[in-house]
Amino acid sequence: MKALCVLGSTGSIGVSTLDVVRRLPGKFRVHSLTAGSNAQKLAEQAAEFKPARIAISEKEKYAELKSQLNGYRGEVLAGDDALCALAEDAASDYVVSAIVGAAGLLPTLAALKKGKQVGIANKEPLVMCGPLMIAAAEKAGSTILPIDSEHSAVFQSARAGNHGEVRKIVLTASGGPFRKATKEMMAKATKADALKHPTWSMGAKITIDSATLMNKALEIIEAHFLFGVPYEGIQVWVHPQSIVHALVEFTDGSVVAQLGLPDMRLPIQYALTYPERLDGGLPVLPIEKMAALNFEEPDRERFPSLDFSYEAGRKGGTAPAVLNAANEEAVRLFLEGTVPFIRIFDLVGKTLSAHQVKPMDDVPTVLEADRWARDYVKRNA
Ligand SMILES: NC(=O)c1ccc[n+]([C@@H]2O[C@H](COP(=O)([O-])OP(=O)(O)OC[C@H]3O[C@@H](n4cnc5c(N)ncnc54)[C@H](OP(=O)(O)O)[C@@H]3O)[C@@H](O)[C@H]2O)c1
Repeated sequence: MKALCVLGSTGSIGVSTLDVVRRLPGKFRVHSLTAGSNAQKLAEQAAEFKPARIAISEKEKYAELKSQLNGYRGEVLAGDDALCALAEDAASDYVVSAIVGAAGLLPTLAALKKGKQVGIANKEPLVMCGPLMIAAAEKAGSTILPIDSEHSAVFQSARAGNHGEVRKIVLTASGGPFRKATKEMMAKATKADALKHPTWSMGAKITIDSATLMNKALEIIEAHFLFGVPYEGIQVWVHPQSIVHALVEFTDGSVVAQLGLPDMRLPIQYALTYPERLDGGLPVLPIEKMAALNFEEPDRERFPSLDFSYEAGRKGGTAPAVLNAANEEAVRLFLEGTVPFIRIFDLVGKTLSAHQVKPMDDVPTVLEADRWARDYVKRNA
């Protein structure tokens, strides 16, 4: 039985992960859970899954968490260091990385350095410093398993050939709520408009990233680092049905794709049970849904995020970390009502252009670039 640590258990991916655990009794034991600030949800999860250890990152929430833990007998911790302590705890052998944003970097890295299997949904750290994470994993004998649906699809499809035989990767994007909107409509978009995702139900940050196509921009870099495919070999197509999650083209011209309903429990389950496939009773794609599968070129004028991604990728070094941090900060400002939706593009583009790229030598250099970009966005918002 695998002993799990779920980082970010109270979020959309965390909740889906625990549902997969529920659906496969006897396969997993939940050893530890972590939250950012949602004490109530963490307490409910602790009551159901009885982990040995739980941690909340916001120290101010510790007392609230304690007060909600009726009869829970495990250890209760608070603070960012506590998240790292749980991630590297020798008593768990599989860590699900499901914190949102750069905040997941240090705990995920801590797990990788301890030789664990790590299922990664938290794409931002991979964008910031994928090569450092992969090097840490290789050194410690860790395995990284992608949870992001597109990367899970690439991972699954790529198994149809050898690594050197992959010629091209196509990541699909739903197109988000503004796929057919004019620039004028996008300029007037409210928070509610931007949070209305057509096919997926997800946390707020990734939902806004889907509306700007920045999610796909981050995924291009994530795919480059995870699969070692050059940027020229990674394309994005808008596929409004969100059924085909990615396609892999091989050197002989064969194209292999992975299809499934837009339900994150499937890629989560695959990452958890890999290399096995088990029946967790998840809803299966009804064949009639495949009657219309459309693919369109993304509109790179209305959605410049994809160009930012290739630019950051080409520049290399600290540029992807700056792209990520500028976006996180711009999205935060949009969600708190400080800047309009359309300004996200402007803020990210300007920050990327203003950055003096440094080699991505170590984590402190990456975190310094992250701090610089957030500060630049705040000063220019
Ligand atoms: N949702 C999806 O379908 C999906 C699909 C593919 C990839 N992903 C990726 O998976 C990650 C999680 O996405 P999500 O949609 O699940 O996000 P979410 O619903 O916002 O959940 C985020 C989780 O991270 C925790 N958290 C937030 N800030 C934190 C901090 N500073 N320190 C520690 N923990 C913190 C939250 O805790 P509280 O709730 O307690 O504050 C929550 O448990 C993201 O990187 C996203 O891009 C998500």
